[in-house]
Amino acid sequence: MLTTADGRTLVVRSGVMADARDVRRLIDAVAAEPGVPLLATPGSISLRDVKGLIAKGARDPGSVFLVAEVAGRMAGNLGGSGLAFAPSAHVFEFGMSVDAAYRGVGVGAALLEAALAWAAGAGFTRVELSVFPHNTRAIAFYERHGFTFEGSRPRRFRRAGRYFDEQLMGRTLGAAAEPAAAGSAAAGSATTAAAPATTAAAPATPGAGMV
Ligand SMILES: CC(C)(COP(=O)(O)OP(=O)(O)OC[C@H]1O[C@@H](n2cnc3c(N)ncnc32)[C@H](O)[C@@H]1OP(=O)(O)O)[C@@H](O)C(=O)NCCC(=O)NCCS
Repeated sequence: MLTTADGRTLVVRSGVMADARDVRRLIDAVAAEPGVPLLATPGSISLRDVKGLIAKGARDPGSVFLVAEVAGRMAGNLGGSGLAFAPSAHVFEFGMSVDAAYRGVGVGAALLEAALAWAAGAGFTRVELSVFPHNTRAIAFYERHGFTFEGSRPRRFRRAGRYFDEQLMGRTLGAAAEPAAAGSAAAGSATTAAAPATTAAAPATPGAGMV
C-alpha cells in the first residue's frame, strides 16, 4: 500500500466515469492558479472532455488515464497516450496535475511512476512532455524523474491572449536498446541538454500532453 510522505493512504488507479466531476474540478482549480501551470484556462476543459479522456484510457490500449486519491479524496490525475504518427508510435506523451493541497507529499511521483511502468509495459520506449518554461517546480520534478531539456518553441501557445513558449522534455524508457540514428542527441551524450527539437514527432496539438 502506498502512503504519502505525511502518512496518509495514497491510491493510484485507472480513472472511471464516476471520477469525471472531481477530475474536472481539480483541473479547473489548477488552471486558475496565478502561476499558470497549465495550458487549460478555467472552464476550458468540459466534463465531456474529461469523460473522453477517461473513456480513451479504458478503451485504447495505447492510452492511460490515472487518478490519485489521498485518504479517499481526489488528489491528482495523469493522462497520456502514444503518438498517432506511425514512425513515432513508440513515444508516450502525457500531462498531469496534482491539487495544490496535496503537493509535495509524493502524489506526483506515485502517478508518474505508475504511468512510466504502464508505458514500459505497453511497449513504449520514449516519453515526452511539454511544459511552460516558467513552471520551474514541474521542471525540477520531471528532472528528478529522469527527464531532460530537449528544446523549446517560442510563442508556441496562446493562452488567454498571452503567448507562451513551450519547453520540451523527454527521456527513454526501458532498455531503449536500439542504436540511435545519426544526428540524434542520444547518439552523443545521454546528458545532452539541448537536443534539437526538430523531430517529426511533434504532435499537431498538445493532445494529452499539456491540458
Ligand atoms: C508538478 C507536480 C505534478 C508535482 O506533483 P507533486 O505531488 O507535488 O510531486 P511530489 O510530491 O512527488 O514531489 C514534489 C516535491 O515533494 C518532495 N517529496 C515527494 N515525496 C516526498 C517524500 N516521501 N518525503 C519528502 N518529500 C517528498 C519532492 O522532493 C519534491 O520536492 P519539491 O517540493 O522541491 O518539489 C505538481 O506540482 C503540479 O501538479 N503542479 C501544477 C500542475 C503542473 O504544473 N503540471 C505539470 C504541467 S507540465
